[in-house]
Amino acid sequence: MGSFDFVREYSPYTNREALLDDYTPDTLVGRDDELEEYHGALQPAIYGEQPDNIFLYGKAGVGKTAATRFLLNKLVDNAEEYEDLDVRTEIINCDGLNSSYRVASNLVNTMRPPSNHISETGYSRSQVYDIMWEELDNAGGIILIVLDEIDHLKDDSILYQLSRARENENLTEARIGLIGISNDLTFRDSLSPKVRSSLCERAISFSTYDANELRAVLEQRKNVAFKDDVLTDDVVPLCAAFGAQESGDARKALDLLLKAGDLAREQNDEEVTEQHVRRGRQLLEREQVARGIADLNDHERLVVYALATLEAEDDTPARSREIYTRYKSLADAAGKDSLTARWLREHLDDLAMLGILNVTEINEGSAGGKYREYDLQQDLAVVLDALEETFESMGVHASVKGYL
Ligand SMILES: Nc1ncnc2c1ncn2[C@@H]1O[C@H](COP(=O)(O)OP(=O)(O)O)[C@@H](O)[C@H]1O
Ligand SMILES: [Mg+2]
Repeated sequence: MGSFDFVREYSPYTNREALLDDYTPDTLVGRDDELEEYHGALQPAIYGEQPDNIFLYGKAGVGKTAATRFLLNKLVDNAEEYEDLDVRTEIINCDGLNSSYRVASNLVNTMRPPSNHISETGYSRSQVYDIMWEELDNAGGIILIVLDEIDHLKDDSILYQLSRARENENLTEARIGLIGISNDLTFRDSLSPKVRSSLCERAISFSTYDANELRAVLEQRKNVAFKDDVLTDDVVPLCAAFGAQESGDARKALDLLLKAGDLAREQNDEEVTEQHVRRGRQLLEREQVARGIADLNDHERLVVYALATLEAEDDTPARSREIYTRYKSLADAAGKDSLTARWLREHLDDLAMLGILNVTEINEGSAGGKYREYDLQQDLAVVLDALEETFESMGVHASVKGYL
């Protein structure tokens, strides 16, 4: 057995935290248009006027949260220069708080010291709203309330309440501006017309980054996070190119840079190189597939399971008919009613979209017609790992026993 001592060896980082998600960079690159519009929408606050409600939307990882933190920090700083001005901000992430009730009680609690928190159950919704109005009025001044990731909300009552507090005369002392942020581009259309018109007084769209913009984002962060000259020249462009492929997501590009740096450190390599990036990407993809499989329902998992057993028997790529036969026998063995072959065919495409399996279209020309074949996109071992829970409930097929 080794000694398992913890010893500082080599590290390429000066500030690894600068690559983590909650780090707010000092400047944002490539977001000038968005920032200008956003800044303009917030500008009334510095005059002590209530700004319009603002709705930000764009895909994940395009800088919506970062831009919000950046501008609101600046606004609060600048507001200190004016004695007659009182601006505060409250940022709530709605991920995990799927009801209006929980958002309202969370807002109250973030404004109160822990000793005075209200419980997240036990009141009626209107009671919680009353407590919320009182809390906001006690604070007074201009309060900018950010509801981040609002697409997680299952009902829009809180959006109605906060975006219409003025018209509905719920507040006398405080004036609030609501900022809603959504990663889901269709969320706005799902809102009731009343909520939509009051929440989206200003709607600001964040475009996706191209590879050049991602390169600038990474270049800037690299200088904060890493020691000088530890990255070979191809590392940043490669991470940027992968990020651009992943729908221009800066978070994914930064995660990849972090993974590459961590791999170099684990291996005591003095330089972070293209190999670390490629290996890191493989590892991140695996994690993503494992999470994707974990999110599937029982029948979808059985389909993946069926394909995995065929792969273990060297029978892939397989056609949907073969996968269906295996799926059905696994379902039978587990005492589950199987779904139709048609359902399976439709779901194979969904699973391909999730990066779990590959589809190949085979065209046999005029004589044979066309058909599709499927195999696993990731290593069998990775997929079997992710299916562990499925084995517990559905049993282990003979073909994969040797792999477990
Ligand atoms: N223009 C930018 N300049 C510097 N860092 C950025 C920029 N855009 C995004 N980032 C970084 O990328 C990550 C994802 O951005 P974030 O604002 O959280 O995306 P969103 O909220 O749109 O999903 C964060 O770590 C953020 O700091
Ligand atoms: Mg965000």
